[in-house]
Amino acid sequence: MTTVQYRGFAGVRLEADIIGSENDPAVLLLHGAGQTRAVWARLADALEQAGRRVISLDLRGHGGSEWPADGRYDFDAMVEDLRAVLAQLGTRPVVVASTFGGWIASAALARDAALLASGLVLVDLPVGGDSGAALRIGEWLHDAVSPGPGQPACDPRLADAFDTAALAERLADVAGTITLPTLYIHGLTSDLASRADAASFVNRLPDGELVEVEDTAPRFADDGSDTLGAYLIDFLERRVPRESPAYRAGSDARTFRDALGCFATGVTVVTAIDPDGVPIGLTANSFTSVSLDPPLLLVCIANSSGSAAILRGADHFAVNVLQIGQQPTSNRFAGKGEDRFAATPWEIGEFGTPVLVGSLGSFECARDAVHEGGDHFILVGRVLKAIFEPRRDPLLYFRGKYRKLHFV
Ligand SMILES: Cc1cc2nc3c(=O)[nH]c(=O)nc-3n(C[C@H](O)[C@H](O)[C@H](O)COP(=O)(O)O)c2cc1C
Repeated sequence: MTTVQYRGFAGVRLEADIIGSENDPAVLLLHGAGQTRAVWARLADALEQAGRRVISLDLRGHGGSEWPADGRYDFDAMVEDLRAVLAQLGTRPVVVASTFGGWIASAALARDAALLASGLVLVDLPVGGDSGAALRIGEWLHDAVSPGPGQPACDPRLADAFDTAALAERLADVAGTITLPTLYIHGLTSDLASRADAASFVNRLPDGELVEVEDTAPRFADDGSDTLGAYLIDFLERRVPRESPAYRAGSDARTFRDALGCFATGVTVVTAIDPDGVPIGLTANSFTSVSLDPPLLLVCIANSSGSAAILRGADHFAVNVLQIGQQPTSNRFAGKGEDRFAATPWEIGEFGTPVLVGSLGSFECARDAVHEGGDHFILVGRVLKAIFEPRRDPLLYFRGKYRKLHFV
């Protein structure tokens, strides 16, 4: 992550974090009243994973951005700040803005916005005739600046800087002037817009879409909600697509590996005893079930691996499926120069194969067949015994990284 400084309206210093590759299409995140860019940390990671460059900006008077000496916190200054940052980016990002940030973004991106941005996502933008929403924004500003433990997230002078009700009125007709592809994400438990008001706002957008999200906290942008990330990524991929990398036979092996990495797997350690009675094993995620009757499974082993010769010749082998706590075990059995079994609790199973204690599951197998498969061989095992632990989560592997199960 890099922290960068931009020049806002009248030269005010604005701070932002940037993650992701320069070659990826950009997304600019704008927080709400009384918050800082820190609220987006999880979402920013998810967007980076999805192949986006992410710029999270602190509004003036918030977080690491300048708290201007002249106390100039009028709405127009903030709108011009955003336009100034967008002009300095050298790329036209999709702007994602929540609550009060959404007001700023929609004012900044009305009319000539196509020069500055390629899309707009408004998360819980306060809309509609109900002045309650404007009052809530005002309250949040007051809450954020009221003295508490530590440094306040924003300049205390912000508390009384806005007439939020007047702003709500001023922006009442903004929808019709936003020509960018726009997504409005409405948290159904939000008190910033009623369902009807959100729908009517989106109807007035020339190119608008509405997503209603159930079961979320009132300010669901704050918790880095995975649901928010999912809708956002869907919108980005449809409306501002990135170029997908492609592999063609003969082109680079790295891209082929990356393509295969789209298939999420568990992680196993394949073990056997060598002719000298010494245990051997290696990490493998190429595990697949093959047949129920007879009970067969397979793993693919690289011919270049040190364990290849022993596994080809072994009458019996075991496949140990790792649980979430066994990431060190996975690393150990994939790394070089370590005594893999010395640091791993294991025992000899009923059929003479090394069983790693505490695994999610262990399959003791007799060798059924060995098939050649390019630079790997396919080791098919007939399962003699399977033990498994139903209460642990698996260790997962996806796009070259370990993952854990996560249910929204
Ligand atoms: C998550 C993960 C999955 C792997 N899957 C396989 C696999 O399916 N087949 C394989 O031959 N190597 C696989 N490897 C690589 C081997 O574990 C690694 O090359 C190991 O050092 C081989 O050990 P050896 O040379 O002592 O046999 C994997 C590594 C990791 C980290």
